[in-house]
Amino acid sequence: MIQIPKGCKDVLPSQAYLWQYVEAAAREVAAAYAFKEIRTPVFEHTELFARGVGDTTDIVNKEMYTFLDKGGRSVTLRPEGTAGVARAFIEHGLAGSALPFKAYYLISAFRYERPQAGRLREFHQFGCELYGAAGAFADAEVITLADAFLKRLGLKKVELRLNSIGCKRCRARYHEALKAYFAPHLGEMCEDCRSRYEKNPMRMLDCKAEGCKRLAAGAPRMLDYLCDDCRAHFEQVKALLSGAGVAYTVDPSIVRGLDYYSRTVFEFVSDAAGAQGTVLGGGRYDTLLEQMDSKPVPAVGFAAGMERLLLVMEAEGVLPASDMGAACYLAGMDDASRRRAFLLAQELRGAGIPCETDLMERSVKAQFKYADKTGARFVAVLGERELAEGAAEVKDLRASSSERVKFGELADYIKRRF
Ligand code: HAM
Repeated sequence: MIQIPKGCKDVLPSQAYLWQYVEAAAREVAAAYAFKEIRTPVFEHTELFARGVGDTTDIVNKEMYTFLDKGGRSVTLRPEGTAGVARAFIEHGLAGSALPFKAYYLISAFRYERPQAGRLREFHQFGCELYGAAGAFADAEVITLADAFLKRLGLKKVELRLNSIGCKRCRARYHEALKAYFAPHLGEMCEDCRSRYEKNPMRMLDCKAEGCKRLAAGAPRMLDYLCDDCRAHFEQVKALLSGAGVAYTVDPSIVRGLDYYSRTVFEFVSDAAGAQGTVLGGGRYDTLLEQMDSKPVPAVGFAAGMERLLLVMEAEGVLPASDMGAACYLAGMDDASRRRAFLLAQELRGAGIPCETDLMERSVKAQFKYADKTGARFVAVLGERELAEGAAEVKDLRASSSERVKFGELADYIKRRF
């Protein structure tokens, strides 16, 4: 038996409404902030992620689905959405369009991670990116959008953690402080951390190895090394969020697992998602475009993990009730009435009423059973007498009442009562 690849999940028709519900909420909230959808390829040249996401990150070093295509080029399934959007922004010269440029995406992404609850190899993100605005208003706008999205889903126990990791200038000083702190302990640290020490010591704060984690807990904090501009920016972001009624906790341990961030970084976390507590993460990334050899344009954004959102929604009991079936099931008692039901169904669909009819030539009893199981609201029964009268016996499955309705009036009848 061929089975689904490890770390992937099927979404069956019975569960698809949950995804559509979250996606609709994402689109609605994005529209309220005037973000428009962007669609970029599932795979890109490997070089894009190596440079964009950063070659000192776990994502690039360990988790990418990279392969040679038939032309011998190295391509990678996107591990996230930001780098692809940045590439499109540069390639289409969008810096010359109306700024700020605001885009959202609903995508699948791929990371070769050890699967567990809330951590998959193919997962899905709702992300937003805003280009062109360097000031704190943009950070606050994006965080407020994220907050509105989570609230729109009914989530109440997801908390916002906020930090600033400064700019290139102040971070250089911080890197020195980190190196001085970790230097005497390098012997006790994992191999990865020893290499991070040279290339990007801030990544050492993000290590998942127990010993390294313990040491990282006592490391100097970036917040104590912010330059005046970065400090002022952070204070303004906090003030704007407080003013907008968005609650947050400053958490100096948030450094994020991608290299492109500067200044504001944030995560929305929940214990309901088990060990994988971050449902949404993002931040400012003012140097990403420069890293990709383009002229610098400041940017800020976030992405939420759809699978983790659904887990947290389930834990908080805010998943919507099950999906509805067809508005009307048209049951036929014999061949002639089945044929009439088939045609009547076409008419009803034309009038915008979702309906179904018997495709398996089953007994009326079995048809009722099916209609009930699939959540239909009305069953219109047609038999010899009904055909002669030109009217169906319409049963409201919810109210358990029934009425005679002329074929020609069926559409209006259902529309009125549905
Ligand atoms: P990220 O923190 O790597 O950031 O991922 C964002 C969210 O995607 C996570 O908070 C989590 O909910 C979900 N996620 C990540 N990996 C997995 C996985 N293996 N399985 C299930 N869910 C996962 C980014 O991707 C950045 N591009 C966000 C961003 C946009 N920053 C600025 N703009």
